[in-house]
Amino acid sequence: MDPEEFRRAGHAVVDWIADYWATLGQRPVTSQDPPGTVAAALPAGPTAHGEPVSALLADLDALVTPRLTHWQHPGFFGYFPANTCGPSVLGDLVSSGLGVQGMLWASAPACTALETVMLDWLAGLLDLPERFRSTGRGGGVIQDSASSATLVATLAALHRASEGRWREGGIDRRYRAYTSTQGHSSIEKAARIAGLGRDGVRTVEVDPQTLAMDPDALRAAIRADLAAGDVPAIVVATIGTTSTTAVDPVPQVGAICAEYGVWLHVDAAYAGAAAVCPELRWSHAGLEYADSYCFDPHKWLLTGFDCDAFWVADSGELVEALTVLPEFLRNAASESGAVVDYRDWQVPLGRRFRALKLWFVLRWYGVEGLRAHVRSHVALADRFAARVRADDRFVLAAPHPFSLVCFRLAASDEASAELLARVNATGRVFLTHTRVAGRYTLRLAIGSPLTTQAHVDEAWELLSAAARELTVR
Ligand SMILES: Cc1ncc(COP(=O)(O)O)c(C=O)c1O
Repeated sequence: MDPEEFRRAGHAVVDWIADYWATLGQRPVTSQDPPGTVAAALPAGPTAHGEPVSALLADLDALVTPRLTHWQHPGFFGYFPANTCGPSVLGDLVSSGLGVQGMLWASAPACTALETVMLDWLAGLLDLPERFRSTGRGGGVIQDSASSATLVATLAALHRASEGRWREGGIDRRYRAYTSTQGHSSIEKAARIAGLGRDGVRTVEVDPQTLAMDPDALRAAIRADLAAGDVPAIVVATIGTTSTTAVDPVPQVGAICAEYGVWLHVDAAYAGAAAVCPELRWSHAGLEYADSYCFDPHKWLLTGFDCDAFWVADSGELVEALTVLPEFLRNAASESGAVVDYRDWQVPLGRRFRALKLWFVLRWYGVEGLRAHVRSHVALADRFAARVRADDRFVLAAPHPFSLVCFRLAASDEASAELLARVNATGRVFLTHTRVAGRYTLRLAIGSPLTTQAHVDEAWELLSAAARELTVR
């Protein structure tokens, strides 16, 4: 494909994406086709001499899009959102076109520099503590996901707690991680990858009302482990838990970490984006205690997957934990000590120019544009929650500080599960579920840039009508 062919095909592909977005609301949010449908429709292999892009676009329409769950659909309320938007896609397109590898400063100088500056911009936007800015010992980096951020934080914490020898103590000296019972599964995964074993993570009880970590229970767990000769290495506090968006009391948790010399990682994968709005920054109190912090612009800040923003207060500790220097990567810039080599801040060596999509998004929307995006979703969640609260067929299952509302029927768990199945079967909306205090609970997570009040109202009407059919009360 020469540059002129690329230009023509590229215009067609951009047109195709624009048409997809423009017609998304008319499609069913999910596909009802059984597993195997797509594979059965595809040929056994590629053609001998290639095909035009128009043939690919036709097959996207015929085979692929009808069998997707449409995450950008205005009626998509499942899981947490995975926003994208025009500027993000265009930034990613430029990244693909440049095709550079940002593993070292020397391998792509502007890729590294732009990433450092974008993470400083984001730190300013969220009003994160100064210690995370690149002007001091700290700094930010883009990871693929919050799970990777938790993994590298865990590795750095273990390295610090053991001078890199946490696997040498045998069973007599075990290193421990702590999170609440509501912490994300990636915390256990990180502990297992790091070799702490299945029981390496202590799950700390939560307040039954707020579902936030109980700091007294954390302290008790740390003390018990110390008394047993174990080493508390890392606490992962969550701002916006996956199940219900509970906010752990980071000021108290942080003070305990400081007292016992334990690394504090704060996982704000979804809710971190809320801090672009000054009125929601209460959720980020106590971050000055954190050794590391992350949030996912790919969840609620309009930047397409994958883009996790991860900061450390002391980048030297992270680099010490992760650096390995083979001869073929040696270069004068790295040896001068004057540059950042992001390969030392992550698990893989290679890395894409992901800062471009952030740059496009931040410049296109500006500070107020990003705030308006978050605020509109919080307001829609408030409106939906008010309707749930006002209807005695329903129960609000947890506080809703951001744009997720958790609720269930004031009836059996089976009735709530049936309600979810019925509204999802309409194809107009897609919600997922969780369990809160053991009860089956529906989650309505608002986050698509296309979602308006009309879509949230429609979700409520569908739920209300399905509840009526189920003849609850
Ligand atoms: C609190 C929390 N942490 C971590 C994750 C994992 O995110 P990622 O897919 O970026 O690894 C999630 C995903 O929803 C989450 O809610």
